[in-house]
Amino acid sequence: MELLIKGARVVDWRGDFYGDIYIKNGLINEIGEDLKKDCKVIDGQGKVVMPAFVDLHVHFREPGFTYKEDIESGSRAAVRGGYTAVNLMANTNPICSNMEVVNEVITRGEKINLVDIHQTVSITKDFDGKTISHIDTLEDKVKIMSEDGKEVMNSSTMLNAMVKAKDKNIIVMCHCENEELVALDTRLSENTMTWRNIALAKYTKCPIHIAHVSTKEAMEYIIDAKKGGYEITCEVAPHHIALTDEVEYRVNPPIRKEEDVNFLIKAIQDGWVDAIATDHAPHSHEDKLKGAPGISGIETAFSICYTKLVVEEGLSLSKLSEIMSKNPSNIMGLNKGEIKIGLEGDLVIIDLEKEIEIQGKKFISKGKNTPFDGMKFKGQILKTIKGGRIVYDYR
Ligand code: DOR
Ligand code: ZN
Repeated sequence: MELLIKGARVVDWRGDFYGDIYIKNGLINEIGEDLKKDCKVIDGQGKVVMPAFVDLHVHFREPGFTYKEDIESGSRAAVRGGYTAVNLMANTNPICSNMEVVNEVITRGEKINLVDIHQTVSITKDFDGKTISHIDTLEDKVKIMSEDGKEVMNSSTMLNAMVKAKDKNIIVMCHCENEELVALDTRLSENTMTWRNIALAKYTKCPIHIAHVSTKEAMEYIIDAKKGGYEITCEVAPHHIALTDEVEYRVNPPIRKEEDVNFLIKAIQDGWVDAIATDHAPHSHEDKLKGAPGISGIETAFSICYTKLVVEEGLSLSKLSEIMSKNPSNIMGLNKGEIKIGLEGDLVIIDLEKEIEIQGKKFISKGKNTPFDGMKFKGQILKTIKGGRIVYDYR
């Protein structure tokens, strides 16, 4: 399969220039000006081409909760949002604690063939909080473990899991929530657990990734650990930089104060934040009414981050590309996330000027749950391309 995109503004973490991109056999084959090829051509005039986005934190709910989302609806929502690779969380039913579930999910994803699916395995078996022997049975394709949705409360269990994970080259992704404190104060809950997980990572030298950082203090602990040279990465979710606690919407961790939001944005600008990850958490209307936490966020992440960070806060589009594509791709060990010869031809074509109004009811995702309903942002995904194939086309 061949594809030529001509005359676009080409942006990735390294650069920002006008030119053409030619994809052949799934890979970026040539980058230049006035390329001429006998194949399908897309006119990129007036548009921006970036590497497709990579989401480290997504809930597609399969197996078990397919009334909220399934791998097909989730994949279709992902490409609408400009994503071609996602990392799925393990809080399904059954919980993903073995290779059988991993392989089922990956096979389903391959059949649907819209995005690359990576499946996280739980840190403790079936989230029981204590058993970690299943880690020994994991194959190389498992790159990340997480208890996301909750945290491993027992510190020696977490420490031993980190020792095993390090040994197997697996990153431990931390959902920093201290369930002994969360009812008292969600902020103390996040802060204490972030501190503990960093302390354990320093002790074990296990690479960890801190999910959905939302408080100033948690980010300060991470910055401090990074300065110390530890292998610690972190992600921030779009809703934690675009909303303040005046907006009431149930999500874990919660929407924070303006001071936190400003600190997170500053941390992004200063290069401390490795990735934007959506924590795409689709729920049914009934489950939301019953208090289920989460936001269906994969279709709206780019527009929100572009508007908030680039238009309003002056971040460069290259920097946004770094945290939405290159870094998450590197963390997952993928051959994408940059516009470079030999990398996978996964691209997104965007109209940056087009204004969009978010309407949950129009989401492709089964989860229509969004706090952004009715809000307007800039940046419309026009096409998502995976390996030279158009997997999403805006009409
Ligand atoms: O808001 C959230 N929803 N936070 C989580 O950590 C889990 C997620 C879910 O699975 O719904
Ligand atoms: Zn989480």
